[in-house]
Amino acid sequence: MFPIKTWKCSPSLIAAVASLVVVVSIVHLLFSPLVPSLDNLRAKKVQKSCFPVDGSRERVSYGFAANLSQWVYADSRKAVIYRGAPWREEIGQWLLHCHSATSTIDVVEKISGNRCKNDCSGQGICNHELGQCRCFHGYAGEECSERLHFKCNHPGSPEQPYGPWVVSICAGYCDTTRAMCFCGQGTKYPNRPLAEACGFQTELPSIPDDPIVTNWAKPDLDNIFTTNISKPGWCNVNPEEAYSSKVRFKEECDCKYDGLWGRFCEMPVQSTCINQCSGHGHCHGGFCLCDGGWYGADCSIPSILSTVHDWPQWLRPATVNVPDTRHSIPSMSAVVKKKRPLIYVYDLAPELNIHLLEGRHYKFECVNRIYNELNATFWTEELYGSQMALYESILASPYRTLNGEQADYFFVPVFDSCIITRADDAPHLSMRDHGGLRSSMTLEFYKKAYDHIVDQYPYWNRSAGRDHFWSFSWDEGACYAPKEIWSSMMLVHWGNTNSKHNHSTTAYLLDNWDTIPSDKRGNHPCFDPQKDLVIPAWKKPNPDSLRLKLWSRSLKERTTLFYFNGNLGSAYANGRPESTYSMGIRQNLAKEFGSIPDMEGKLGRQHSDDVIVTPLRSNDYYEKLASSIFCGVLPGDGWSGRMEDSIFHGCIPVVIQDGIFLPYENVLDYNSFAVRVREDEIPNLMQILRAFNETEIEFLLANVRMIWQRFFYRDSIVLEAERQEIGYGHVADWAVEALKLSEEDVLSTFLEVILDMLLNDALARRIYPILTNKLNECCNRSHLPPRE
Ligand SMILES: *[C@@H]1O[C@H](CO)[C@@H](O)[C@H](O)[C@H]1NC(C)=O
Ligand SMILES: *[C@@H]1O[C@H](CO)[C@@H](O)[C@H](O)[C@H]1NC(C)=O
Ligand SMILES: *[C@@H]1O[C@H](CO)[C@@H](O)[C@H](O)[C@H]1NC(C)=O
Ligand SMILES: *[C@@H]1O[C@H](CO)[C@@H](O)[C@H](O)[C@H]1NC(C)=O
Ligand SMILES: *[C@@H]1O[C@H](CO)[C@@H](O)[C@H](O)[C@H]1NC(C)=O
Ligand SMILES: *[C@@H]1O[C@H](CO)[C@@H](O)[C@H](O)[C@H]1NC(C)=O
Ligand SMILES: *[C@@H]1O[C@H](CO)[C@@H](O)[C@H](O)[C@H]1NC(C)=O
Repeated sequence: MFPIKTWKCSPSLIAAVASLVVVVSIVHLLFSPLVPSLDNLRAKKVQKSCFPVDGSRERVSYGFAANLSQWVYADSRKAVIYRGAPWREEIGQWLLHCHSATSTIDVVEKISGNRCKNDCSGQGICNHELGQCRCFHGYAGEECSERLHFKCNHPGSPEQPYGPWVVSICAGYCDTTRAMCFCGQGTKYPNRPLAEACGFQTELPSIPDDPIVTNWAKPDLDNIFTTNISKPGWCNVNPEEAYSSKVRFKEECDCKYDGLWGRFCEMPVQSTCINQCSGHGHCHGGFCLCDGGWYGADCSIPSILSTVHDWPQWLRPATVNVPDTRHSIPSMSAVVKKKRPLIYVYDLAPELNIHLLEGRHYKFECVNRIYNELNATFWTEELYGSQMALYESILASPYRTLNGEQADYFFVPVFDSCIITRADDAPHLSMRDHGGLRSSMTLEFYKKAYDHIVDQYPYWNRSAGRDHFWSFSWDEGACYAPKEIWSSMMLVHWGNTNSKHNHSTTAYLLDNWDTIPSDKRGNHPCFDPQKDLVIPAWKKPNPDSLRLKLWSRSLKERTTLFYFNGNLGSAYANGRPESTYSMGIRQNLAKEFGSIPDMEGKLGRQHSDDVIVTPLRSNDYYEKLASSIFCGVLPGDGWSGRMEDSIFHGCIPVVIQDGIFLPYENVLDYNSFAVRVREDEIPNLMQILRAFNETEIEFLLANVRMIWQRFFYRDSIVLEAERQEIGYGHVADWAVEALKLSEEDVLSTFLEVILDMLLNDALARRIYPILTNKLNECCNRSHLPPRE
């Protein structure tokens, strides 16, 4: 059929070899002029051996070892179904035949024991790999002996004694280790947060319906520190008395900080930490104070002083060589059986991630969960919580390794979700040096991480960073990645290839990156489909949606043709005023199909009974999605969570954003479960959708049902369910429902994609020369005939 090279495969590779045959043959057939039908494929004989018996270079016929009933072409574009998802053909074929064939390898995990100077003065956790301190918030220096002073307020003036209000401002006691504001000594509740408006006088508006104004120049100490029960107080207010209305309290005061629950912050609760410190430490704010023998942002890395018995699942089963003189050696090794892709996670300076978590002024920000008065999980609606979810999953995954030499990928966990929400929170996070741009300020954090790993580890230089990946969770994705790291893989929610929208498209000026000088960001696009990946936004597990299986609603139960709910711009009350909002796309949709009157009383030009385009969020939003056939996926300032909403409720996504990729769009076959409509086709949108016949719609719906879990952070949710059960005996509804699910989720999809990228194709060509012998030779794509 085609000439074949002489391959040397060990007997243990026979299975993989058989797979190769399938790939080779099918790819060959597919690229021949006549595409064979499934029946033609079936007719081939099965042959178990992959290479010519005598190693000859003769033409040989090959057959198929795969289970052909799984070999379903999703559509005429030949998507390939692998583990329930329609993949783009090339990657699908590779996964189908080579993924399971990747063999188990012995990884030599290095358990380090490098000491830190002066044991970090008791004010930090020692990273035993580098022998470097990771200091607590507010401490710095080699031994964490230097005390920093993070002010709560900008410098004051006679007119503004507490400085200008930026995001946060403090009239009480400032904890300068974290720039957080409390009632302080001399009050009955010194540890009660005294956030922002709580501490300042409010002024009634001169016009009756206008909002109340806070005067940031005038502290409200008479009230907040009062012990007079007829004044609205805060710092001396006894919660029981306030709950029973015996005393008054100031309404503007709020329990904003993490780790505290109740109207008056009267209940200490768990704070949110990465993996809740993995059972080897306790969570202080967002910083894991690790037990002796453990380190890392989530205390998951054992040092030589740990007990082997306590090691995490991902270091098992291990063959450990325990030397007699444990205390005098800097490291020991453990051989662990693992499968690729192997991921090394950098333990970065805490300023780049967990200090931002610990110092956050509003507990819901940038995390996917907090804890309630029972220390039970309270999931947030923060779309950006995905960054934390993925980080936690990777840290606890069996693909993690401590051996950078053997690792395939390197994860650099900078927390931009928390940087962005904290930008300007306090003077040390001021954006003044960044022209007021948090995009530019965030860039600096990534640059610092880059400088650190280039300097301290050999791995970046080995591959020029091509085997590194970074996550950018914010609205503009990796648009403002520093130029130095663009060679790496970017995990984003915003897949803008800049082919059409070739500048900063956000209407939110602080995120704009057009003016960041090119010596900092270079001139890269926001997303490169050859190397980057769009990953889903965080959506909390909704026990009702899960129990009712809203994703599985049949076509019969879907009576609305098209549904979109979201801000539709300036034509509507409370609409975003900027014409650049949503790049004008939502506004155009509303002009044509708006289903409620705008401020001029007008409906969309082509409004129709079975089309809903509305800025009003109804209480039964999920029901609405689940009773619609098509759901709109349109940008907001940047990305929005509409793709996840649509998929989770079994609705076919209709994507309207030219040149901007959605989750997995460069790897999954979107034609199998979504509809893409060009921005300039909006006037014809309903004609386009009405032209789909029932068979096609059923086909798309069936695929949405098959893939919805790939948009769900189930792994991270299950990790939390386990922690809750072990720690408190809690088994919540969401946990029960999440544990029933078993399909591939965000983490497993990500792992499939990076394995394919590693062993196959584009990235392989970029990384190899440098990293050799990783590839199972029988799945080496360069042995396949060239593509068109
Ligand atoms: C082939 O795959 C189908 C669907 O996954 C399964 O039902 C069937 O049992 C498999 N057959 C064999 C021989 O493995
Ligand atoms: C308590 O506050 C009320 C209302 O402001 C005031 O009338 C009263 O004199 C105060 N009592 C004391 C003991 O200061
Ligand atoms: C919740 O956790 C906090 C912090 O560990 C602890 O102080 C508190 O007593 C716990 N509350 C309950 C109800 O378990
Ligand atoms: C990596 O390369 C950079 C620039 O060439 C160099 O400054 C740095 O020291 C290198 N890092 C290591 C660990 O060799
Ligand atoms: C963006 O594209 C337009 C049209 O192709 C072009 O005129 C403009 O110069 C481009 N802008 C940038 C910043 O590349
Ligand atoms: C539906 O559309 C598909 C693709 O255009 C076509 O192959 C099929 O015959 C149509 N089915 C019906 C029932 O019209
Ligand atoms: C894959 O095959 C090509 C061509 O035979 C070879 O040059 C390359 O080294 C192989 N890659 C690996 C990682 O084995």
